[in-house]
Amino acid sequence: MNLNQLKKQAAWAALDYIYPGSIVGVGTGTTIFYFIKALSTIKNLICGTVSSSNSSTALLKEQGIQVFNLKHFSSIALYIDSADEINHHLQMIKGGGAALTREKIIAAMAQNFICIVDKSKKVDVLGNFPLPIEIIPMAISYVSKEMIKIGGKPKYRKNVITDNGNIIIDVYNLCIKDPILMEKKINALPGVVTVGLFASRGADTVLIGTKTGIKTIK
Ligand code: 5RP
Repeated sequence: MNLNQLKKQAAWAALDYIYPGSIVGVGTGTTIFYFIKALSTIKNLICGTVSSSNSSTALLKEQGIQVFNLKHFSSIALYIDSADEINHHLQMIKGGGAALTREKIIAAMAQNFICIVDKSKKVDVLGNFPLPIEIIPMAISYVSKEMIKIGGKPKYRKNVITDNGNIIIDVYNLCIKDPILMEKKINALPGVVTVGLFASRGADTVLIGTKTGIKTIK
């Protein structure tokens, strides 16, 4: 099985966590593309969704799935999203698809965060995947300098403007031994909108697509 088949497997497994009549938070990315397709098969059973990006909103609407504006909710029961890396504490690097800020808002609001990944995303230590940071454009030099101070190699993500009108830098060369501390430190820098470390609020469950079936870690 290739990685896309494993993503699809994890995406379909997430349907088991959806209660009839509920609002489902929906992440962003290629794994979520498969999830949205799967969700469309039970769209009449759910009340609707809230979405973490304009691209997911468009896909959901294409499938005839109701999308509510997040501003009307202060909490939701369930959030389904993927990750770029996830460790055994269910802490993640996210933001490969530039949707990290909205994803973090929904993750914070969710009572239950189910992460769906293919097996390549499971790691011992976070940081091999470059850490995305959404920043206010004028802060690029300052935030980049601060990332170099902690041993990172920041790179501006060309031709990407987030749904919030900001830019992304990807920080290479990090070995993130204390994800909660690093999340706090980077989030505290002026100009940072969101760091793509989901550590203080990690996932509650991860469904990992593997060639022998779904592996679940809670
Ligand atoms: C988007 C994300 C995605 O969850 C992450 O990039 C994984 O994407 P994919 O499912 O395409 O591998 O955080 O901002």
